[in-house]
Amino acid sequence: METFISSNIRAISLDMSSIVLLVGTLVAIYISHWIYRWRSPKCNGVLPPGSMGLPLIGETIQLVIPSASLDLPPFIKKRIKRYGPIFRTNIAGRPVIITADADFNHFLLRQDGKLVDTWSMDTFAEVFDQASQSSRKYTRNLTLNHFGVESLKSKLLPQMEDMVRKTLSAWSSTHESVEVKSQSVTMAIDFAARQIFSGDLENAPLNISEMFRDLVEGLMSFPINIPGTSHHKCLQIHKKVREMMRGVVTKRLAESDLRQQHGDLLDHIIQDKNTESFINEDFIVQLMFGLLFVTSDSISTTLALAFKFIAEHPLVLEELTSEHEAILKNRENPNSTLTWDEYKSMTFTLQVINEVLRLGNIAPGFFRRALKDIPVNGYTIPSGWVIMIATAGLHLNANQFEDPLKFNPWRWKEIQSSVVAKCFMPFGSGMKQCAGAEYSRVLLATFLHVLVTKYRWAMVKGGKIVRSPIIRFPDGFHYKISEKNN
Ligand code: HEM
Repeated sequence: METFISSNIRAISLDMSSIVLLVGTLVAIYISHWIYRWRSPKCNGVLPPGSMGLPLIGETIQLVIPSASLDLPPFIKKRIKRYGPIFRTNIAGRPVIITADADFNHFLLRQDGKLVDTWSMDTFAEVFDQASQSSRKYTRNLTLNHFGVESLKSKLLPQMEDMVRKTLSAWSSTHESVEVKSQSVTMAIDFAARQIFSGDLENAPLNISEMFRDLVEGLMSFPINIPGTSHHKCLQIHKKVREMMRGVVTKRLAESDLRQQHGDLLDHIIQDKNTESFINEDFIVQLMFGLLFVTSDSISTTLALAFKFIAEHPLVLEELTSEHEAILKNRENPNSTLTWDEYKSMTFTLQVINEVLRLGNIAPGFFRRALKDIPVNGYTIPSGWVIMIATAGLHLNANQFEDPLKFNPWRWKEIQSSVVAKCFMPFGSGMKQCAGAEYSRVLLATFLHVLVTKYRWAMVKGGKIVRSPIIRFPDGFHYKISEKNN
């Protein structure tokens, strides 16, 4: 009897161990298949060369490793060297193609809505998400309407000059140095907020420009939403800012019944709400938020870089100053404000701005998503994959821009228009080109006009530049600004 029981127990335990072995083998097969699939994703052709990195995180860590240089992020530079200008990778769990191929990028940017569609990395999508094509188009037209050339000519240019004069006067009257990047965020937000909702938040208990400064820091972080992470903090601030804006919108919607008009962008959307079905309170809040974000971060970073580059290149400052002094000298009325023709005559200033944008590469690129399989150079980009148009790879290409890391605004005198069309696109290119491009150029040119004619500036501390891969200034750019006559 005992032998019978023990032989049965042995049989059962044998069976149990075979089951465990079988399950273990199946799990191992499943995992190795999954890893194989991760490394060799399905494709109706040959994938561009590259690596998909580690399961789940891909090559995200390599991408965000900071580099203390204006050069192309090492992640992109090393891979272009190894694989050529079009390669595959995986960022935050998503298969991505990165392209620094000028001809292919030029072609892709003319395929919006056909072969590709606009796309944003997750963090951006959370703050500037727009569900449909029609709402995207609406946002573009609305932005052009309020921040485009006609608005700039008819009202924004003198308002900008006034704002810049007041800002620089305040900066120069402080005994301390001014941290140019964060103070420029304040300036850009305050100005844009006035165009968007007529400063309805001026007396709010929380300062909106300060909140944006904190938000921008977290926005570029790895998107893990757990307490303590920068991303989590960023989403918390985003929530608070949206609540404040919702308050403004609700109040305005109530006022709109009383037919009070401010003539700003918010009035315009509220009016369009009657005819456009996608416009609701959420959409309005999201759009206002997105606009404040794009107007503040990119312009303030470009301005801070302009301060640094010009201060470090006295010959550039000299030519810039003579261009602006000539504008003042040629005026019939020395007290008149900047005119559109004067702005258009600032040849060297616009070359300086181009050079700051080329070297600055505020973001190393922007995104599209493949709507179909896309053939390129014998490879296939599978439908659904994200494509990063790596503009930094074009802007810092030594074949097009000699000695590409050198700040040399004079290079723009020689550069052919075909190179500009295909290899210089800080504002994108094609149908989706930045709707705030001219606004940004005018604001930067106006700032430089007042700065070089009335002030001098010297760095007090900071100045460190880090790319991870978005450009950041970890110690700030602290300048002492003083009036020339003092
Ligand atoms: C230095 C400043 C700026 C830079 C470098 C910049 C850059 C860009 C880039 C690269 C794009 C994407 C283009 C694409 O996907 O093809 C874009 C889109 C956009 N930008 Fe800007 N931008 C700047 C300032 C502004 C400002 C001040 C505004 C608003 C007044 C603005 C509004 C927009 C809008 C609405 C879009 C979406 C366009 C569309 O989808 O049709 N940007 N910008």
